[in-house]
Amino acid sequence: MGRAICAKFVANGYFVVAGDANAEALQDTTTALNKIGENALARPGDLRSKAYCEDLIDTAINLTGRLDALVNNSGIITRGTILETSDEDWERTFDINLTAIFYTCRRAVRFMKENGGGSIVNISSTWGVYPGPSHAAYCASKAAVATFFKMSWARPCGRRHQGQCCLPRGDRYSHASVRLCTSRFRSRHGGGRTQ
Ligand SMILES: NC(=O)c1ccc[n+]([C@@H]2O[C@H](COP(=O)([O-])OP(=O)(O)OC[C@H]3O[C@@H](n4cnc5c(N)ncnc54)[C@H](O)[C@@H]3O)[C@@H](O)[C@H]2O)c1
Repeated sequence: MGRAICAKFVANGYFVVAGDANAEALQDTTTALNKIGENALARPGDLRSKAYCEDLIDTAINLTGRLDALVNNSGIITRGTILETSDEDWERTFDINLTAIFYTCRRAVRFMKENGGGSIVNISSTWGVYPGPSHAAYCASKAAVATFFKMSWARPCGRRHQGQCCLPRGDRYSHASVRLCTSRFRSRHGGGRTQ
């Protein structure tokens, strides 16, 4: 999904700073996007690091002076009932699926609030709303993403900020996912905000 999201942003004139733990796949993604110009930067890392989460936002801002959109797409699907879920499973799932979103959103909202607005998309899951069987940590983390979105939006951001929480259907997306934040160069052609 992340690869497709990056391509869509680039097609709409955005510069993309893309992150993922899989450095090789990430480089493939940005290399393909850069065949027709300077469109994307690969910034590999582990979302369990707060410093890495914040660096993704800072890199986009430092490179372009803007932050128009943030898409929190990366996530892991942890299988197991409550009895099959270890402490490590639980912590890893929440670190990647939820806490990383908190870190990137907090950093991004701070900048967007002071710089005229922006858009954030956090990818949840239908299983965060209607939990499926035997995925205790995954369903709970995705439910938390949906709630985090609702409670974190209206007050700190105001009207010029837009947020969405997406519940993708599995069969509609490919399996290349990247967490990304995007920034659009001022010199590039304009266009509406991406949500
Ligand atoms: N595909 C589906 O059926 C489906 C359904 C509902 C929700 N979703 C959600 O949509 C999003 C994308 O799904 P997908 O199927 O494209 O996923 P995917 O498994 O293909 O890709 C996930 C990406 O996250 C990266 N990642 C994992 N741990 C990381 C870490 N610690 N640091 C940095 N990167 C890390 C992986 O390297 C991978 O590229 C996820 O949040 C997922 O939960 C997917």
